[in-house]
Amino acid sequence: MTDTNANNATFTVGDTNVEFERVSATQGSDGFSIAPLLAKTGTVTLDPGFVNTASCTSDITYISGSEGILRYRGYPIEELAENCSFLEVAYLLIYGELPNPTSLAAFGRRINEHTLLHEDFKRFFTAFPSQGHPMAILQSGIAGMATYYEHTLDPKDEEQLDMASILLLAKVPTMIAYIAKRAIGLPLLYPDSSRYYTEDFIRMTFGLPYQGEEIDPLVVRALDTLLILHADHEQNCSTSTVRLVGSAQANLYSSVASGVGALSGPLHGGANEAVMRMLREIRDAGLTVDEFVSQVKDKKNSVRLMGFGHRVYKNFDPRARIVKSLADEILPRLGSENELFDIAKSLEEAALSDEYFVARRLYPNVDFYTGLIYEAMGFPAKMFTPLFALGRLPGWIAQYRELINDPTQRIGRPRQVYTGETERHWIPREERQTADLLHLSDSLNVAKL
Ligand code: CMC
Repeated sequence: MTDTNANNATFTVGDTNVEFERVSATQGSDGFSIAPLLAKTGTVTLDPGFVNTASCTSDITYISGSEGILRYRGYPIEELAENCSFLEVAYLLIYGELPNPTSLAAFGRRINEHTLLHEDFKRFFTAFPSQGHPMAILQSGIAGMATYYEHTLDPKDEEQLDMASILLLAKVPTMIAYIAKRAIGLPLLYPDSSRYYTEDFIRMTFGLPYQGEEIDPLVVRALDTLLILHADHEQNCSTSTVRLVGSAQANLYSSVASGVGALSGPLHGGANEAVMRMLREIRDAGLTVDEFVSQVKDKKNSVRLMGFGHRVYKNFDPRARIVKSLADEILPRLGSENELFDIAKSLEEAALSDEYFVARRLYPNVDFYTGLIYEAMGFPAKMFTPLFALGRLPGWIAQYRELINDPTQRIGRPRQVYTGETERHWIPREERQTADLLHLSDSLNVAKL
Protein backbone atom coordinates (compact mmCIF):
# COMPACT_ATOMS: atom_id res chain seq x y z
CA MET A 1 0.00 0.00 0.00
CA THR A 2 1.46 3.42 -0.89
CA ASP A 3 0.52 6.87 0.33
CA THR A 4 -0.27 8.67 -2.96
CA ASN A 5 -0.41 12.14 -1.48
CA ALA A 6 -0.66 13.75 1.90
CA ASN A 7 -4.20 12.44 2.11
CA ASN A 8 -5.21 9.24 0.43
CA ALA A 9 -3.53 5.87 -0.05
CA THR A 10 -3.68 3.43 -2.93
CA PHE A 11 -3.90 -0.29 -2.31
CA THR A 12 -3.17 -2.68 -5.14
CA VAL A 13 -4.67 -6.17 -5.48
CA GLY A 14 -3.58 -7.85 -8.72
CA ASP A 15 -4.22 -5.30 -11.45
CA THR A 16 -6.70 -3.27 -9.45
CA ASN A 17 -5.81 -0.07 -7.58
CA VAL A 18 -8.16 1.07 -4.86
CA GLU A 19 -7.95 4.52 -3.35
CA PHE A 20 -8.54 4.77 0.38
CA GLU A 21 -9.59 8.14 1.71
CA ARG A 22 -7.53 9.33 4.65
CA VAL A 23 -9.65 10.36 7.64
CA SER A 24 -7.75 12.83 9.80
CA ALA A 25 -7.62 12.54 13.57
CA THR A 26 -7.30 15.70 15.69
CA GLN A 27 -4.74 13.67 17.67
CA GLY A 28 -3.46 10.13 17.37
CA SER A 29 -3.65 7.83 14.39
CA ASP A 30 -5.36 8.92 11.18
CA GLY A 31 -7.46 6.23 9.52
CA PHE A 32 -7.92 4.99 5.97
CA SER A 33 -11.45 4.31 4.92
CA ILE A 34 -11.25 0.84 3.39
CA ALA A 35 -14.95 0.51 2.57
CA PRO A 36 -14.44 0.26 -1.26
CA LEU A 37 -12.01 -2.68 -0.99
CA LEU A 38 -14.51 -5.54 -1.21
CA ALA A 39 -16.55 -4.10 -4.06
CA LYS A 40 -13.45 -3.25 -6.12
CA THR A 41 -11.23 -6.30 -5.45
CA GLY A 42 -13.38 -9.04 -3.90
CA THR A 43 -11.04 -9.12 -0.88
CA VAL A 44 -11.50 -8.06 2.74
CA THR A 45 -9.10 -7.00 5.48
CA LEU A 46 -8.43 -9.52 8.26
CA ASP A 47 -7.75 -8.15 11.74
CA PRO A 48 -8.61 -10.57 14.58
CA GLY A 49 -9.07 -8.73 17.86
CA PHE A 50 -9.31 -5.44 15.93
CA VAL A 51 -5.73 -4.56 16.76
CA ASN A 52 -5.53 -2.24 13.77
CA THR A 53 -9.12 -1.44 12.95
CA ALA A 54 -11.02 1.72 13.90
CA SER A 55 -14.75 1.01 14.00
CA CYS A 56 -15.83 4.65 14.12
CA THR A 57 -14.74 8.24 14.48
CA SER A 58 -15.35 9.55 17.97
CA ASP A 59 -15.14 12.88 19.83
CA ILE A 60 -15.37 11.42 23.32
CA THR A 61 -12.13 9.94 24.64
CA TYR A 62 -8.53 10.20 23.55
CA ILE A 63 -5.87 7.72 24.62
CA SER A 64 -2.20 7.73 23.76
CA GLY A 65 -0.88 4.31 24.67
CA SER A 66 2.75 5.31 24.20
CA GLU A 67 2.55 8.49 26.26
CA GLY A 68 0.11 7.22 28.90
CA ILE A 69 -2.48 9.90 28.12
CA LEU A 70 -6.20 9.57 28.81
CA ARG A 71 -8.54 12.50 28.18
CA TYR A 72 -12.31 12.74 28.28
CA ARG A 73 -13.56 15.37 25.82
CA GLY A 74 -10.05 16.85 25.88
CA TYR A 75 -9.65 17.06 29.67
CA PRO A 76 -6.76 15.06 31.19
CA ILE A 77 -7.94 12.28 33.49
CA GLU A 78 -5.63 13.57 36.24
CA GLU A 79 -7.45 16.96 36.32
CA LEU A 80 -10.89 15.38 36.25
CA ALA A 81 -10.03 12.86 38.99
CA GLU A 82 -8.61 15.63 41.17
CA ASN A 83 -11.32 18.25 40.71
CA CYS A 84 -14.62 16.77 39.57
CA SER A 85 -17.43 14.70 40.95
CA PHE A 86 -18.45 11.53 39.11
CA LEU A 87 -21.73 13.13 38.03
CA GLU A 88 -19.87 16.09 36.55
CA VAL A 89 -17.75 13.69 34.53
CA ALA A 90 -20.84 11.73 33.50
CA TYR A 91 -22.39 14.97 32.21
CA LEU A 92 -19.16 15.85 30.40
CA LEU A 93 -19.02 12.48 28.65
CA ILE A 94 -22.68 12.42 27.69
CA TYR A 95 -23.22 16.06 26.69
CA GLY A 96 -19.70 17.07 25.63
CA GLU A 97 -18.98 19.95 28.07
CA LEU A 98 -18.42 20.29 31.78
CA PRO A 99 -21.69 21.46 33.35
CA ASN A 100 -22.15 24.90 34.87
CA PRO A 101 -23.57 24.88 38.42
CA THR A 102 -27.18 25.17 37.23
CA SER A 103 -26.96 22.37 34.69
CA LEU A 104 -25.11 20.11 37.13
CA ALA A 105 -27.79 20.70 39.76
CA ALA A 106 -30.55 19.97 37.22
CA PHE A 107 -28.75 16.82 36.07
CA GLY A 108 -28.34 15.56 39.66
CA ARG A 109 -31.97 16.42 40.43
CA ARG A 110 -33.28 14.52 37.40
CA ILE A 111 -31.23 11.48 38.37
CA ASN A 112 -32.31 11.65 42.01
CA GLU A 113 -35.99 11.76 40.97
CA HIS A 114 -35.66 8.31 39.40
CA THR A 115 -33.55 6.24 41.76
CA LEU A 116 -36.45 4.14 43.05
CA LEU A 117 -37.05 0.76 41.46
CA HIS A 118 -40.58 -0.34 40.72
CA GLU A 119 -41.68 -2.63 43.57
CA ASP A 120 -42.38 -5.47 41.09
CA PHE A 121 -38.94 -5.00 39.63
CA LYS A 122 -37.41 -5.38 43.07
CA ARG A 123 -38.91 -8.87 43.23
CA PHE A 124 -37.26 -9.70 39.92
CA PHE A 125 -33.93 -9.95 41.74
CA THR A 126 -35.24 -12.67 44.03
CA ALA A 127 -35.74 -14.98 41.05
CA PHE A 128 -31.98 -15.51 40.88
CA PRO A 129 -29.93 -17.60 43.32
CA SER A 130 -28.67 -15.13 45.91
CA GLN A 131 -25.10 -16.33 45.31
CA GLY A 132 -25.39 -15.99 41.53
CA HIS A 133 -22.75 -13.68 40.08
CA PRO A 134 -23.86 -10.04 40.39
CA MET A 135 -22.80 -9.27 36.82
CA ALA A 136 -25.23 -11.87 35.45
CA ILE A 137 -28.04 -10.44 37.59
CA LEU A 138 -27.13 -6.86 36.69
CA GLN A 139 -27.05 -7.67 32.99
CA SER A 140 -30.55 -9.16 33.18
CA GLY A 141 -31.81 -6.28 35.32
CA ILE A 142 -30.58 -3.64 32.90
CA ALA A 143 -32.03 -5.47 29.89
CA GLY A 144 -35.29 -5.80 31.87
CA MET A 145 -35.56 -2.03 32.23
CA ALA A 146 -36.85 -1.98 28.65
CA THR A 147 -40.03 -3.67 29.87
CA TYR A 148 -40.76 -0.98 32.50
CA TYR A 149 -39.90 2.10 30.47
CA GLU A 150 -41.30 1.34 27.05
CA HIS A 151 -41.84 5.03 26.33
CA THR A 152 -38.05 5.54 26.36
CA LEU A 153 -36.96 2.94 23.81
CA ASP A 154 -36.76 4.92 20.57
CA PRO A 155 -33.09 5.90 20.12
CA LYS A 156 -33.98 8.37 17.39
CA ASP A 157 -36.19 10.41 19.72
CA GLU A 158 -33.88 12.80 21.58
CA GLU A 159 -36.14 13.20 24.59
CA GLN A 160 -36.63 9.45 24.97
CA LEU A 161 -32.91 8.89 24.69
CA ASP A 162 -32.21 11.53 27.32
CA MET A 163 -34.75 9.95 29.64
CA ALA A 164 -33.33 6.45 29.08
CA SER A 165 -29.87 7.84 29.91
CA ILE A 166 -31.13 9.41 33.14
CA LEU A 167 -33.06 6.26 34.11
CA LEU A 168 -29.98 4.09 33.68
CA LEU A 169 -27.76 6.43 35.70
CA ALA A 170 -30.44 6.61 38.39
CA LYS A 171 -31.41 2.97 38.74
CA VAL A 172 -28.18 1.04 38.22
CA PRO A 173 -26.73 2.07 41.64
CA THR A 174 -29.96 0.97 43.32
CA MET A 175 -29.84 -2.35 41.46
CA ILE A 176 -26.22 -2.99 42.38
CA ALA A 177 -26.88 -2.16 46.03
CA TYR A 178 -29.89 -4.52 46.04
CA ILE A 179 -27.88 -7.33 44.48
CA ALA A 180 -25.16 -6.85 47.11
CA LYS A 181 -27.62 -6.77 50.00
CA ARG A 182 -29.58 -9.77 48.81
CA ALA A 183 -26.41 -11.83 48.48
CA ILE A 184 -25.89 -11.52 52.24
CA GLY A 185 -29.55 -11.62 53.23
CA LEU A 186 -29.78 -8.08 54.58
CA PRO A 187 -32.73 -5.71 54.11
CA LEU A 188 -32.81 -3.48 51.05
CA LEU A 189 -32.86 0.26 51.69
CA TYR A 190 -34.82 2.73 49.61
CA PRO A 191 -32.81 5.44 47.86
CA ASP A 192 -32.51 8.79 49.63
CA SER A 193 -32.79 11.48 46.98
CA SER A 194 -31.37 14.16 49.26
CA ARG A 195 -27.92 12.57 49.13
CA TYR A 196 -25.18 12.73 46.54
CA TYR A 197 -25.12 9.86 44.04
CA THR A 198 -22.09 7.93 45.30
CA GLU A 199 -22.84 8.64 48.94
CA ASP A 200 -26.32 7.19 48.62
CA PHE A 201 -25.01 4.19 46.72
CA ILE A 202 -22.67 3.43 49.63
CA ARG A 203 -25.50 3.95 52.13
CA MET A 204 -27.81 1.57 50.24
CA THR A 205 -25.03 -1.03 49.94
CA PHE A 206 -23.84 -1.02 53.53
CA GLY A 207 -26.51 0.74 55.61
CA LEU A 208 -29.13 -0.94 57.78
CA PRO A 209 -32.60 0.35 58.64
CA TYR A 210 -32.76 2.56 61.73
CA GLN A 211 -29.03 2.61 62.21
CA GLY A 212 -26.66 5.53 61.85
CA GLU A 213 -26.33 6.65 58.27
CA GLU A 214 -23.16 8.70 58.46
CA ILE A 215 -21.11 7.93 55.38
CA ASP A 216 -17.38 8.57 55.57
CA PRO A 217 -16.64 11.43 53.11
CA LEU A 218 -13.21 9.93 52.49
CA VAL A 219 -14.82 6.75 51.18
CA VAL A 220 -17.31 8.72 49.06
CA ARG A 221 -14.50 10.74 47.50
CA ALA A 222 -12.34 7.65 46.89
CA LEU A 223 -15.19 5.75 45.24
CA ASP A 224 -16.12 8.81 43.17
CA THR A 225 -12.52 8.97 41.95
CA LEU A 226 -12.50 5.29 40.99
CA LEU A 227 -15.77 5.69 39.12
CA ILE A 228 -14.30 8.67 37.23
CA LEU A 229 -11.23 6.61 36.26
CA HIS A 230 -13.48 3.91 34.81
CA ALA A 231 -15.98 6.23 33.14
CA ASP A 232 -14.83 5.77 29.55
CA HIS A 233 -12.01 4.18 27.62
CA GLU A 234 -12.84 4.66 23.94
CA GLN A 235 -13.50 1.53 21.86
CA ASN A 236 -12.69 -1.18 24.44
CA CYS A 237 -14.41 -4.58 24.32
CA SER A 238 -17.60 -3.68 26.24
CA THR A 239 -18.00 -0.27 24.57
CA SER A 240 -17.58 -1.82 21.15
CA THR A 241 -20.21 -4.34 22.19
CA VAL A 242 -22.59 -1.54 23.20
CA ARG A 243 -21.98 0.13 19.84
CA LEU A 244 -22.38 -3.06 17.83
CA VAL A 245 -25.70 -3.91 19.48
CA GLY A 246 -26.77 -0.26 19.24
CA SER A 247 -25.92 -0.22 15.53
CA ALA A 248 -28.93 -2.50 15.02
CA GLN A 249 -30.90 0.30 16.75
CA ALA A 250 -31.49 -1.94 19.73
CA ASN A 251 -32.59 0.26 22.62
CA LEU A 252 -30.12 1.75 25.11
CA TYR A 253 -30.97 -0.77 27.85
CA SER A 254 -30.33 -3.82 25.63
CA SER A 255 -27.12 -2.30 24.32
CA VAL A 256 -25.77 -1.44 27.77
CA ALA A 257 -26.80 -4.87 29.10
CA SER A 258 -24.69 -6.44 26.34
CA GLY A 259 -21.80 -4.24 27.43
CA VAL A 260 -22.20 -5.57 30.97
CA GLY A 261 -21.87 -9.10 29.58
CA ALA A 262 -18.64 -8.20 27.80
CA LEU A 263 -17.30 -6.44 30.87
CA SER A 264 -17.82 -9.54 33.01
CA GLY A 265 -14.96 -11.36 31.24
CA PRO A 266 -11.74 -11.85 33.25
CA LEU A 267 -9.66 -10.26 30.50
CA HIS A 268 -11.76 -7.09 30.75
CA GLY A 269 -13.69 -5.84 33.79
CA GLY A 270 -13.46 -9.14 35.62
CA ALA A 271 -9.72 -8.59 36.04
CA ASN A 272 -10.11 -6.62 39.30
CA GLU A 273 -11.75 -9.65 40.92
CA ALA A 274 -9.16 -11.95 39.36
CA VAL A 275 -6.33 -9.83 40.83
CA MET A 276 -7.62 -10.37 44.36
CA ARG A 277 -8.01 -14.12 43.73
CA MET A 278 -4.45 -14.20 42.45
CA LEU A 279 -3.06 -12.28 45.45
CA ARG A 280 -4.87 -14.60 47.86
CA GLU A 281 -3.67 -17.70 46.05
CA ILE A 282 -0.08 -16.46 46.27
CA ARG A 283 -0.49 -15.78 49.98
CA ASP A 284 -2.34 -19.01 50.80
CA ALA A 285 0.07 -21.20 48.83
CA GLY A 286 2.97 -19.46 50.56
CA LEU A 287 4.52 -18.64 47.18
CA THR A 288 7.26 -16.07 46.93
CA VAL A 289 6.78 -13.32 44.40
CA ASP A 290 9.63 -14.75 42.33
CA GLU A 291 8.02 -18.20 42.30
CA PHE A 292 4.75 -16.75 41.06
CA VAL A 293 6.45 -14.61 38.42
CA SER A 294 8.25 -17.76 37.18
CA GLN A 295 4.87 -19.50 36.84
CA VAL A 296 3.56 -16.58 34.79
CA LYS A 297 6.56 -16.65 32.49
CA ASP A 298 6.27 -20.39 31.93
CA LYS A 299 3.93 -20.65 28.95
CA LYS A 300 2.99 -24.23 29.89
CA ASN A 301 0.95 -22.86 32.80
CA SER A 302 -1.24 -20.28 31.05
CA VAL A 303 -1.05 -18.25 34.28
CA ARG A 304 -1.27 -14.49 33.73
CA LEU A 305 -0.27 -11.72 36.03
CA MET A 306 -3.78 -10.30 36.37
CA GLY A 307 -3.98 -6.53 36.42
CA PHE A 308 -0.98 -6.30 34.12
CA GLY A 309 -0.89 -5.52 30.43
CA HIS A 310 -3.11 -3.51 28.19
CA ARG A 311 -3.93 -3.54 24.51
CA VAL A 312 -3.36 0.19 24.21
CA TYR A 313 -1.09 1.36 27.06
CA LYS A 314 2.44 0.25 26.36
CA ASN A 315 4.37 2.45 28.82
CA PHE A 316 2.03 3.04 31.70
CA ASP A 317 -1.69 3.25 32.39
CA PRO A 318 -2.36 6.76 33.76
CA ARG A 319 -5.34 5.41 35.70
CA ALA A 320 -3.13 2.87 37.47
CA ARG A 321 -0.89 5.68 38.76
CA ILE A 322 -3.86 7.50 40.26
CA VAL A 323 -5.24 4.29 41.76
CA LYS A 324 -1.91 3.42 43.30
CA SER A 325 -1.55 6.79 45.02
CA LEU A 326 -5.18 6.51 46.15
CA ALA A 327 -4.36 3.08 47.61
CA ASP A 328 -1.30 4.50 49.39
CA GLU A 329 -3.47 7.24 50.88
CA ILE A 330 -6.65 5.39 51.73
CA LEU A 331 -5.65 1.86 52.75
CA PRO A 332 -3.84 2.88 55.96
CA ARG A 333 -6.68 5.27 56.84
CA LEU A 334 -9.30 2.56 56.38
CA GLY A 335 -7.26 0.35 58.68
CA SER A 336 -7.23 -2.52 56.22
CA GLU A 337 -4.67 -5.29 56.67
CA ASN A 338 -1.99 -4.63 54.14
CA GLU A 339 -0.62 -8.10 53.50
CA LEU A 340 -2.16 -8.35 50.03
CA PHE A 341 -1.18 -4.77 49.22
CA ASP A 342 2.41 -5.66 50.12
CA ILE A 343 2.29 -8.70 47.84
CA ALA A 344 0.86 -6.54 45.04
CA LYS A 345 3.61 -3.94 45.44
CA SER A 346 6.31 -6.61 45.43
CA LEU A 347 4.77 -8.23 42.36
CA GLU A 348 4.73 -4.90 40.56
CA GLU A 349 8.33 -4.24 41.48
CA ALA A 350 9.44 -7.70 40.37
CA ALA A 351 7.53 -7.55 37.10
CA LEU A 352 8.70 -4.07 36.17
CA SER A 353 12.31 -5.18 36.34
CA ASP A 354 11.80 -8.56 34.67
CA GLU A 355 12.79 -9.02 31.03
CA TYR A 356 9.59 -10.98 30.21
CA PHE A 357 7.34 -8.04 31.18
CA VAL A 358 9.70 -5.34 29.94
CA ALA A 359 10.03 -6.93 26.48
CA ARG A 360 6.25 -7.26 26.14
CA ARG A 361 5.67 -3.80 27.59
CA LEU A 362 3.40 -5.07 30.34
CA TYR A 363 2.61 -2.56 33.11
CA PRO A 364 0.04 -2.44 35.88
CA ASN A 365 -3.37 -1.47 34.54
CA VAL A 366 -6.26 0.21 36.33
CA ASP A 367 -7.37 -3.08 37.85
CA PHE A 368 -4.16 -3.95 39.64
CA TYR A 369 -4.87 -1.95 42.80
CA THR A 370 -8.61 -1.16 42.56
CA GLY A 371 -9.71 -4.44 44.16
CA LEU A 372 -7.61 -3.72 47.23
CA ILE A 373 -9.35 -0.39 47.71
CA TYR A 374 -12.81 -1.82 47.11
CA GLU A 375 -12.08 -4.57 49.61
CA ALA A 376 -10.89 -2.07 52.21
CA MET A 377 -14.17 -0.19 51.69
CA GLY A 378 -16.03 -3.39 52.52
CA PHE A 379 -17.12 -4.59 49.06
CA PRO A 380 -16.92 -8.37 48.53
CA ALA A 381 -14.87 -9.46 45.51
CA LYS A 382 -17.94 -10.38 43.47
CA MET A 383 -19.06 -6.74 43.60
CA PHE A 384 -15.88 -5.33 42.04
CA THR A 385 -16.91 -5.77 38.42
CA PRO A 386 -20.39 -4.27 39.03
CA LEU A 387 -18.53 -1.24 40.42
CA PHE A 388 -16.57 -1.07 37.18
CA ALA A 389 -19.92 -1.24 35.32
CA LEU A 390 -21.30 1.60 37.43
CA GLY A 391 -18.28 3.71 36.53
CA ARG A 392 -18.40 2.79 32.83
CA LEU A 393 -22.11 3.57 32.51
CA PRO A 394 -21.70 7.22 31.37
CA GLY A 395 -19.13 6.13 28.80
CA TRP A 396 -21.42 3.47 27.35
CA ILE A 397 -24.30 5.94 27.25
CA ALA A 398 -22.17 8.63 25.58
CA GLN A 399 -20.78 6.21 23.00
CA TYR A 400 -24.24 4.83 22.20
CA ARG A 401 -25.60 8.35 21.72
CA GLU A 402 -22.69 9.31 19.49
CA LEU A 403 -23.28 6.22 17.37
CA ILE A 404 -27.02 6.88 17.06
CA ASN A 405 -26.41 10.47 15.98
CA ASP A 406 -23.59 9.66 13.55
CA PRO A 407 -25.01 9.77 10.01
CA THR A 408 -22.15 7.64 8.66
CA GLN A 409 -22.85 4.70 10.96
CA ARG A 410 -24.51 1.59 9.55
CA ILE A 411 -25.42 -1.69 11.17
CA GLY A 412 -22.21 -3.33 12.37
CA ARG A 413 -21.61 -6.38 10.27
CA PRO A 414 -18.01 -7.64 10.10
CA ARG A 415 -16.85 -9.85 7.26
CA GLN A 416 -14.87 -13.07 7.60
CA VAL A 417 -12.29 -15.09 5.73
CA TYR A 418 -13.92 -18.50 5.47
CA THR A 419 -11.53 -21.38 6.20
CA GLY A 420 -13.98 -24.28 6.62
CA GLU A 421 -14.93 -27.21 4.38
CA THR A 422 -15.74 -26.55 0.77
CA GLU A 423 -18.99 -28.07 -0.46
CA ARG A 424 -19.68 -31.66 0.69
CA HIS A 425 -22.82 -33.78 0.63
CA TRP A 426 -25.13 -35.30 3.20
CA ILE A 427 -24.80 -39.03 3.95
CA PRO A 428 -27.31 -41.20 5.87
CA ARG A 429 -26.79 -41.23 9.66
CA GLU A 430 -25.99 -44.98 9.83
CA GLU A 431 -23.16 -44.62 7.33
CA ARG A 432 -21.31 -41.79 9.10
CA GLN A 433 -17.82 -42.56 10.47
CA THR A 434 -17.44 -39.29 12.38
CA ALA A 435 -15.87 -39.24 15.88
CA ASP A 436 -17.87 -38.51 19.04
CA LEU A 437 -17.36 -34.77 19.55
CA LEU A 438 -19.38 -34.10 22.70
CA HIS A 439 -16.99 -33.40 25.58
CA LEU A 440 -19.31 -34.19 28.47
CA SER A 441 -18.80 -36.56 31.35
CA ASP A 442 -20.75 -36.68 34.64
CA SER A 443 -17.97 -34.93 36.51
CA LEU A 444 -19.56 -31.47 36.17
CA ASN A 445 -22.33 -32.40 38.58
CA VAL A 446 -24.93 -30.06 37.09
CA ALA A 447 -28.33 -30.19 38.79
CA LYS A 448 -31.05 -31.49 36.47
CA LEU A 449 -33.61 -28.91 37.63
N1 CMC B 1 0.61 -11.75 32.23
C1 CMC B 1 1.53 -12.47 31.53
N2 CMC B 1 1.71 -12.35 30.20
C2 CMC B 1 0.95 -11.47 29.56
C3 CMC B 1 -0.01 -10.67 30.21
C4 CMC B 1 -0.17 -10.84 31.60
N3 CMC B 1 -1.06 -10.13 32.28
N4 CMC B 1 -0.63 -9.88 29.32
C5 CMC B 1 -0.07 -10.15 28.14
N5 CMC B 1 0.90 -11.11 28.27
C6 CMC B 1 1.78 -11.63 27.23
C7 CMC B 1 1.05 -12.63 26.36
O1 CMC B 1 1.15 -13.95 26.86
C8 CMC B 1 1.76 -12.44 25.04
O2 CMC B 1 3.00 -13.08 25.13
P1 CMC B 1 3.64 -13.80 23.82
O3 CMC B 1 3.89 -12.69 22.87
O4 CMC B 1 4.86 -14.46 24.35
O5 CMC B 1 2.59 -14.76 23.35
C9 CMC B 1 2.03 -10.93 25.00
O6 CMC B 1 2.12 -10.54 26.38
C10 CMC B 1 0.94 -10.12 24.31
O7 CMC B 1 -0.29 -10.42 24.97
P2 CMC B 1 -1.71 -10.42 24.27
O8 CMC B 1 -2.64 -11.31 25.02
O9 CMC B 1 -1.54 -10.69 22.80
O10 CMC B 1 -2.12 -8.91 24.46
P3 CMC B 1 -3.56 -8.33 24.23
O11 CMC B 1 -3.38 -6.91 23.83
O12 CMC B 1 -4.36 -9.19 23.31
O13 CMC B 1 -4.26 -8.44 25.65
C11 CMC B 1 -4.87 -7.95 27.87
C12 CMC B 1 -4.37 -7.38 26.54
C13 CMC B 1 -5.24 -6.81 28.82
C14 CMC B 1 -6.14 -8.81 27.63
C15 CMC B 1 -3.74 -8.83 28.48
O14 CMC B 1 -2.60 -8.04 28.75
C16 CMC B 1 -4.19 -9.57 29.74
O15 CMC B 1 -4.75 -10.67 29.63
N6 CMC B 1 -3.99 -8.98 30.96
C17 CMC B 1 -4.45 -9.58 32.18
C18 CMC B 1 -5.93 -9.29 32.35
C19 CMC B 1 -6.17 -7.86 32.77
O16 CMC B 1 -5.52 -7.34 33.68
N7 CMC B 1 -7.17 -7.23 32.13
C20 CMC B 1 -7.57 -5.86 32.45
C21 CMC B 1 -7.31 -4.90 31.33
S1 CMC B 1 -7.47 -3.18 31.85
C22 CMC B 1 -9.11 -2.99 32.26
C23 CMC B 1 -10.01 -3.16 31.09
O17 CMC B 1 -9.88 -2.41 30.11
O18 CMC B 1 -10.90 -3.99 31.16
